[in-house]
Amino acid sequence: MKAEADPNLIVYFRGQYMPLGEAQVGILTHALHYGTGVFEGIRAHWDEAAQELYLMRPLEHYQRWKQNCGILHIDVPASPKQLCAITVELMRRNAFHTNVYIRPIAYKCAERVGVSPDDQDAFGLIGLPFGEYLHSENGLHAGVSSWRRIEDNAIPARAKICGAYVNSALASDDAKRSGFDEAILLNESGHVAEGATCNIFMVRKGHLITPPVTENLLEGITRDSVMELARRELGIPVVERAIDRSELYICDELFLTGTAVGVAPVTRVDHRPVKDAAIGAVSRQLRQLYFDATRGHLSQYRRWLLPIYRPEQEQGKGPVQQGEMRIA
Ligand SMILES: Cc1ncc(COP(=O)(O)O)c(C=O)c1O
Repeated sequence: MKAEADPNLIVYFRGQYMPLGEAQVGILTHALHYGTGVFEGIRAHWDEAAQELYLMRPLEHYQRWKQNCGILHIDVPASPKQLCAITVELMRRNAFHTNVYIRPIAYKCAERVGVSPDDQDAFGLIGLPFGEYLHSENGLHAGVSSWRRIEDNAIPARAKICGAYVNSALASDDAKRSGFDEAILLNESGHVAEGATCNIFMVRKGHLITPPVTENLLEGITRDSVMELARRELGIPVVERAIDRSELYICDELFLTGTAVGVAPVTRVDHRPVKDAAIGAVSRQLRQLYFDATRGHLSQYRRWLLPIYRPEQEQGKGPVQQGEMRIA
């Protein structure tokens, strides 16, 4: 899905809430020319029954964002908790009653030519109504890309660095033009790293297997959530180890995870069926568990959620629903 931008949408930019149409950057902006920005992707899920919008693990997203900004010496002058509070206010000002994708971005904002960055930084938060990113209800067809995942000592893939997403864009564009739903990238060692916009898991011999974070991949928060759900709710052993390309062709199940994609089963890879090309039991259960957890249906995972509209959120007092996170 492509989220269309409404110019009247309220965004948070350079310390103020303002209409999207007024949040402009200059043509000479450093990040535009050299990719010197770091972004995040956070989801808020709408639960119709509860009439509530839940941010999914916003504190962890903002902690990751600030850490990764540090790699580029970009300063975000707000704490993760303050960023959560700004996000809650942003959701309220837009009165969102639907699923939302939040895109924080911090960048080198000097307007001049010359690649060496200085200490002029800016940041903004944009929230967009956002539905399904990949239509994976019947399973996806993924293709292994001829583009290799960028190496940590070139541009760290563990940070969502704007310039690094040229690597994802090249792989994704090739995959779409070749009729695939998503690209799978190998690293320079030939091992499976991740999808263009998501992490990857396979099921083999009763184990849930995903590459370790040292294989040139984003340390996904959905990846972490899914590993916990698999261990605790399904009792499946989770193993982090290198995955060979050919294992994708002989595994029992394959799925992708990410803030945008959720838990997305892959039923064909490189024109080969994954097992019998049907969505497997582990993928199906994890997809459902993740859906329920993100909508506040599982009390043991409410600690991942920050509710937007519950009034006590504002004052930092009053009853919190069992285990729910609170920022004030
Ligand atoms: C390259 C890449 N890998 C993995 C992910 C999944 O990360 P997360 O689950 O934190 O959204 C993303 C999503 O933003 C991504 O862009």
